[in-house]
Parts: sequence; structure tokens; C-alpha cells
Amino acid sequence: MIVLTLPGAPGIELSVAKAFGAKLVEVEHKTFPDGETYIRIPTDVNGEVVTIVQSMFPNQDKRLVELLLTVETCKDLGASKVITIIPYIAYSRQDKRFRDGEPISIKTILKLLGSAGADTLLVVDIHKSESLQYFPGKAIEITSLVLLGKKACEKGMENPIVLAPDLGALKRAQRVAKELKTEYDYMEKFRDRVTGEITIKPKEVDVSGRDVLIIDDIISTGGTIAKASRIIKSLGARRVLVAAAHSLLINNAYERIISSGVECIYTANTIKRAKALPKLEIIDISSEIIPNLKQIL
Ligand code: R5P
Repeated sequence: MIVLTLPGAPGIELSVAKAFGAKLVEVEHKTFPDGETYIRIPTDVNGEVVTIVQSMFPNQDKRLVELLLTVETCKDLGASKVITIIPYIAYSRQDKRFRDGEPISIKTILKLLGSAGADTLLVVDIHKSESLQYFPGKAIEITSLVLLGKKACEKGMENPIVLAPDLGALKRAQRVAKELKTEYDYMEKFRDRVTGEITIKPKEVDVSGRDVLIIDDIISTGGTIAKASRIIKSLGARRVLVAAAHSLLINNAYERIISSGVECIYTANTIKRAKALPKLEIIDISSEIIPNLKQIL
């Protein structure tokens, strides 16, 4: 097997290549003066199983084009199988037409990947698992949240409860709570589809004097977690911790979350980070990816 790494690869590619004794090759890439993307695969892939690792952030669109060009080139050059590992797959939140005339973006992305020639797709905590039906080949989803939840618990939690900040994250909370043998619940979130503004309603949830672990798939602006945390704190929670698979942390999201009373954010290494942050604990999830990859091969 050959592991090809693209600019969004977050480090997981190193452990994957090591685990399979595979050759790790960086795909050459540049941007032309007019903004177009160029790639070149500097190794022979003819007859090889090729695993491409690329996360789609930051910049989603650029990372997507690099990936599509690489997938199709591998197939053109005779790769016997193309496996794409996309630890963070962008556009997954636009999984339906919330308003008339909108696209189902994730459907377009997954169809494009399939038509470029990707045979198998491996993603981590996609916003909705059901979206994977749009990928024409075999698609596997791995969850990082159980591992993140366990890490949060290692430091000791008193009378813990796992909370989803909205109904959409309830299944995730349920799964983590089952593993941690704790209670779980959810809060009620409403998003204005035009302005993007969110409101979270303090539901009847018993958090008084307890340690709360908020579970979510993505932290973008931090609005969801910060609002949830403030409410939980106002209801008397002792500590608030967060386990979120993909911490995009746009602009001042980190400060926003920490100032809302969150003690620590546990997140997976699904995207590249420019710098370390004191209360952001990054957990390597290669151990979840490798066994799944073994099953595919
Ligand atoms: C939405 O349903 C997602 O699961 C996240 O809760 C959301 O994307 C987080 O966004 P933000 O950090 O901007 O509130």
C-alpha cells in the first residue's frame, strides 16, 4: 500500500503508513498565480492500493479540489484501489434543503468523490451518518467521541452527566454515556436559518452540583458550546468539560468557550492546528482508524 498525503492531512497519515509498513509520499502541490490548484504524484501508483489522507480544513474548497485531482489521477495511473481517509469532511452540515433553493452540499461532495474514482471512504464523526448514503462506494464512519469522553473522565468526574447541546447530537451523547456508564440528556437549540443566530433553551435537566460533559461533532464559532455552557453553569453545574470531534475554532471561538466556564475541550486530531492552546487537549485517533482500515484491505 502507498499512503499519499495532501496539505490538509493532520498527522494521522504517519501512524497509518507505519502500521501498514506503507510508503508515505507527499503529493506535490502548488497554486498557480491565478489561484488554480496544481498537484503531482511523485511515485508510481500503477497496480497499487493507494490510501489518500486529506482533511477538508482549512480552506475547505482548496482541500477538496486537491483531493479530487489526486483521486482521479491515481485511478488514471492504474491504482488498483483508492481509499480516501477524510478525518474532517466539510460541507456535512448542509445535509438538507433548509430553505427552498438551497443545495444538499454534502451530497454533491460525496458524489464528486465517487465519480473521481474513490472506492472507499473513511470519515470521522460526520455531522449526520445518513449522509454517507450519497457516496457510491463503501463508506465507513469512525467515532472519536468515546475516546474523547474517556480521556475527559480520566481526570475524574463527579456524578457526571453527558449533555448534547441540541437534539441532533443526542445519539452521540447516548453512545458516549453508554460507554462511560453515565446519564445523558440534551438541550433545545434553534438556529435562525437566515442570520445563523442560535438560541438554546434551558431544558429541565438536573445538573446541579454535577460535572457535565458536553458532546458535539463540530465547534465552529463556539456559539453553541458557549451558550450551552453558560446555561449549564447557571443551573448549578460544578464543572463543564467538552468533547468535540472537530475543533475548527473560528476567530475567537476558543476564548468565547473558555470564558463561558468550560474547563477543557477534548478534541480529535482531525484537522491541522497552527498552534497549541492551553485548554484544548488533542487526542490522537489513529488507534480507531487503523483497525477499520485493516478490515478494508
Ligand atoms: C450543528 O448542528 C453542529 O452539530 C454544531 O453544534 C455546530 O456546527 C457548532 O457551530 P458553532 O460552534 O458555530 O455554534
